[in-house]
Amino acid sequence: MYLSREEESICQGERGESLRRAMEILVALGEIYGAERLVAVRSVQIAGVSFKNIGEAGLEWISDLRGRVVVPSILNPAGMDLYRWKEMGISEDFAAWQKKVVEAYERLGVTVDCTCTPYQIYDNLASRGDHLAWSESSAVSYANSVIGARTNREGGPSALAAALVGKTPLYGYHLDEKRRPTHLVAVDADLKGSDYGALGFLVGRIVKDGVPIFRLRSLPASDELKALGAAMAASGSVALYYVEDATPSPPAGAEPGERLDLGRKEIDEVYENYPGSDAEIVALGCPHCSMAQLERIADLLEGRRVQKELWVCTARKIAEKCPDLVARIEKSGAKVLCDTCMVVSPASERYRKMMVDSGKALAYIPGLCGIEAGFGSTEECIDAALGRI
Ligand code: F3S
Repeated sequence: MYLSREEESICQGERGESLRRAMEILVALGEIYGAERLVAVRSVQIAGVSFKNIGEAGLEWISDLRGRVVVPSILNPAGMDLYRWKEMGISEDFAAWQKKVVEAYERLGVTVDCTCTPYQIYDNLASRGDHLAWSESSAVSYANSVIGARTNREGGPSALAAALVGKTPLYGYHLDEKRRPTHLVAVDADLKGSDYGALGFLVGRIVKDGVPIFRLRSLPASDELKALGAAMAASGSVALYYVEDATPSPPAGAEPGERLDLGRKEIDEVYENYPGSDAEIVALGCPHCSMAQLERIADLLEGRRVQKELWVCTARKIAEKCPDLVARIEKSGAKVLCDTCMVVSPASERYRKMMVDSGKALAYIPGLCGIEAGFGSTEECIDAALGRI
């Protein structure tokens, strides 16, 4: 891989051991994947924040690094709400480790907004055509597909390395060749809300790491695109998709080689195959809720009391922007949790079954939390929490 003189000098340790180690990761990745060179990134989103996932070894690795990130860098959800962790049933021990992880990132200049939807709170992190080094799979999917930026799905260490160096190897989804659609997915059904999560759950399993292009009856809203991409990234490993007339277009002349036809029957089967009303806990906000989603949840809960634990996960900055909505939701007995989510927090593990309205959470909860997952629309999830179904 070509390296500039400055990049060479970093490799040789002339700018310190931490930068040398960061560059070593980037060069190794670039050589494995055949990158020609490094490319400057506009921003970085770093996964590997929950202590549940990174453990003591990960914390030690981050704590040993010195220096500061050189591009705007933001964290993925942690294993707990950084302030209300006791209400989640998180142990003192876990909380102490989790705080150390966040402090270690903070010392390196990473912004402590622990969210998988950085694009909902900052508009200066990614624009069309920008190169990024983002980690969390739903954020990667949204950046590539809806924003039209370019990022691979980075691991925690390679994202942090990119943040310190300000560059990432130029391969994969940074290049047009990897951005060509592989499957045309024609959906002959009217879709809304969680149907997009169900659709993504189905399509990800089929196309795996392909690049689907959807032909839909109507244009999805941004929260629906967020749900679609998140689900495909979890049930498969889709990092880029297109929706005709709704997202940026694929490179010119690129035609998908395969076709899939789906309809209402297939979508409904996801709901039928994963019933959730017998769950003891309901969790919404995967990916993290937008303000519009919080408003919808507040409306559905208005004047009612939940009979089951109900978590609503969002970014702290979103919750801070709409304290009235948060108060309306919490008046029902639900908890609006920030900085964390139902998948990366160990707090989920003490339940037997969780009901969600997210195709991504449906795909991940059994494997990552060791509990059952049920799926329903947002309305059904709220009805379950209220004890009405
Ligand atoms: Fe975000 Fe957690 Fe879902 S990181 S996409 S809320 S699994």
